[in-house]
Amino acid sequence: MTGRDRFLRAARREPVDVTPVWFMRQAGRCLPSYRALRARHDFLTLATTPELAAEATLMPVEQLGVDAAVLFADIMLPLASIGVPFEIRPGVGPVIPSPIRSAADGERLRIRPAEEGTPFVLEAIRLVKAELGDRAALLGFAGAPFTLACYLIEGKPSREFPRAKALMYGDPATWHRLMETLTTLTIDYLRAQIAAGADAVQLFDSWLGLLDPASYETAVLPYTRRIFAEISPLAPAIHFSTGTVALLEQIGASGCDVVSVDWRLPLDVAWGRVGDGVGMQGNLDPSLVLAPWEAIAAGARDILQRATGRAGHIFNLGHGILPESDPAMLSRIVSLVHQEL
Ligand code: CP3
Repeated sequence: MTGRDRFLRAARREPVDVTPVWFMRQAGRCLPSYRALRARHDFLTLATTPELAAEATLMPVEQLGVDAAVLFADIMLPLASIGVPFEIRPGVGPVIPSPIRSAADGERLRIRPAEEGTPFVLEAIRLVKAELGDRAALLGFAGAPFTLACYLIEGKPSREFPRAKALMYGDPATWHRLMETLTTLTIDYLRAQIAAGADAVQLFDSWLGLLDPASYETAVLPYTRRIFAEISPLAPAIHFSTGTVALLEQIGASGCDVVSVDWRLPLDVAWGRVGDGVGMQGNLDPSLVLAPWEAIAAGARDILQRATGRAGHIFNLGHGILPESDPAMLSRIVSLVHQEL
């Protein structure tokens, strides 16, 4: 079975030879070859130059042996399609100089199709696809409307995103208008990625853990459901979040094919909460990768054991690779996951 087959079969909950594995944030950060490339270009140049983005996307497939390549891009890139300028500050993250904080700010947003706003992302997908063949699945992605709204309203990274949540609670009309725009943007962006050759997609709702179940139900979930209703018929769709132990039942019923969970619940317990109708991605603690190999191996084996007997497990970390991780340990994890069954 090729890596691509293995990944796509698991995403559809079909039997596989061995468990497929990839790592979130595998395309950047911890690989010396990425650091060398990054030393020559700033991040946005890498992400918006198709040849360079394709090179970074392929590095972990070649060096770690993973079953999926995740497109080298960022959740902020599609903001180019709604005319919102942003920067990515090294070591800080996304910064938006003119945040959206009122109905009037929201009115100014206009949506252009992905082919016009982010043609470089689609071209990078075509280049990667041509190089990759069937060795690994190519995973496209987008930030979910809630997580994008957090940055758009707050204007910068934050622990609690209080301004964004205050707007959600205090000005529902502006909130829903913004979520509508971001949902339309996201559906178009993911569709265009699939049309360009992405085999599957992941929706990153990284800051969802800031919400309670009732707010999630009314302010966010209707938009998430709409995205999966449009996208899942076209390609397998993965929902990603962290810190969402209180929301797993709702996430499981959002219409995604696979739910990516962090390490806060054992994999089988989380799977029980999201339900049998979906696959599971996860869920090694990224910090465990910094521990000695024996501890890493025990953690990885425990996860594999908890998934035994159920189709639809994709092995991953619970969140992104930490920059100080040793790539040799990541390769060993891939070998272990591919040997165990
Ligand atoms: O494997 C990969 O790295 C694939 C590409 C990828 C990037 N960002 C590249 C990137 C992916 C999938 C993302 C998603 C992303 N971006 C998310 C969702 C995933 C998550 O971790 O929750 C979020 C919240 C962002 C926003 C963002 N962009 C952050 C928080 C940062 C990190 C800031 C930092 O330096 O710590 C970025 C910048 C960024 N995106 C980098 C990379 C490789 C680092 C930029 C650099 O090289 O200077």
